[in-house]
Amino acid sequence: MPEQTGRLSGKSAIVTGAGSRADGIGNGRATAILFAREGADLLLVDRDEAAVEATLEMIRAEGNDAAVAVADVTSTEDCSRIVAEAVSRNGKLDILHNNVGIGGRGTVEDISLADWEHVQRVNVTSMMLTCKYAVPAMRESGGGAITNVSSIAALRPRGLTAYSVSKAAVATLTQALAVDHGRDGIRANCIMPGPVYTPMVYAAGMSDELRERRKNASLLRQEGEPWDIAWAAVFLASDEAKYVTGVILPVDGGVTVRGPDR
Ligand SMILES: NC(=O)c1ccc[n+]([C@@H]2O[C@H](COP(=O)([O-])OP(=O)(O)OC[C@H]3O[C@@H](n4cnc5c(N)ncnc54)[C@H](O)[C@@H]3O)[C@@H](O)[C@H]2O)c1
Repeated sequence: MPEQTGRLSGKSAIVTGAGSRADGIGNGRATAILFAREGADLLLVDRDEAAVEATLEMIRAEGNDAAVAVADVTSTEDCSRIVAEAVSRNGKLDILHNNVGIGGRGTVEDISLADWEHVQRVNVTSMMLTCKYAVPAMRESGGGAITNVSSIAALRPRGLTAYSVSKAAVATLTQALAVDHGRDGIRANCIMPGPVYTPMVYAAGMSDELRERRKNASLLRQEGEPWDIAWAAVFLASDEAKYVTGVILPVDGGVTVRGPDR
């Protein structure tokens, strides 16, 4: 049994995108598993029922438990419903972890307007919507912690223009939340994962050569794991981070600070 330290004990938490697009562990699934291990009263949200049930099974296999809501976070009604469900189960909402995100390849020449708008809606509008309902619930609960998952693609655009722009917007949305709702005791922070080896990147196939290049892009010459993102999420959600808000935290093995001579 992995060590359980109760860092989120008694906290009512929502994790969106708590499933995974394929077998294996993605960032959302890893975060859900660690939140459960740390004692959170957890609502796992995903639009893919089988995927989120698989996460629940993993959590139960460790002797922990969680509730599940099948919901599409691009829907206003669904976002309102999941917040209401967390509050009705636990009497409050302390933590919102916005993990849902999809890719978006190509330059402005390549991408259609419909695809562009879809990426912005899934990656950015969804987070605005979950926060729209979570903020009043957190205010009512005496405060809370929101963590939004962005990407270093926001800092290093590279042929994923719709995705990069959406992830830059996630960072700014986070800062706006921190500024607008700090007085309510609500902290808002953003994680920017680097090249993490998850189903999001390997489900569509990744050559060994590209995987090695991604690893060597890190100052540490290491490949990121979903657990690296999840541990950052545990810290930001916990009271250990009570003085941390408005932060954009790259979890990237130093990829974004690396210069050409290192
Ligand atoms: N893996 C990486 O290398 C990497 C790097 C940078 C950033 N990220 C970010 O990490 C986050 C996702 O990581 P993951 O590994 O959990 O991805 P994943 O694709 O494996 O899982 C995401 C889950 O979100 C769900 N989902 C998608 N759209 C939804 C919607 N509209 N409503 C509800 N659920 C929805 C999917 O069903 C899936 O289960 C994204 O925000 C992504 O941009 C990942």
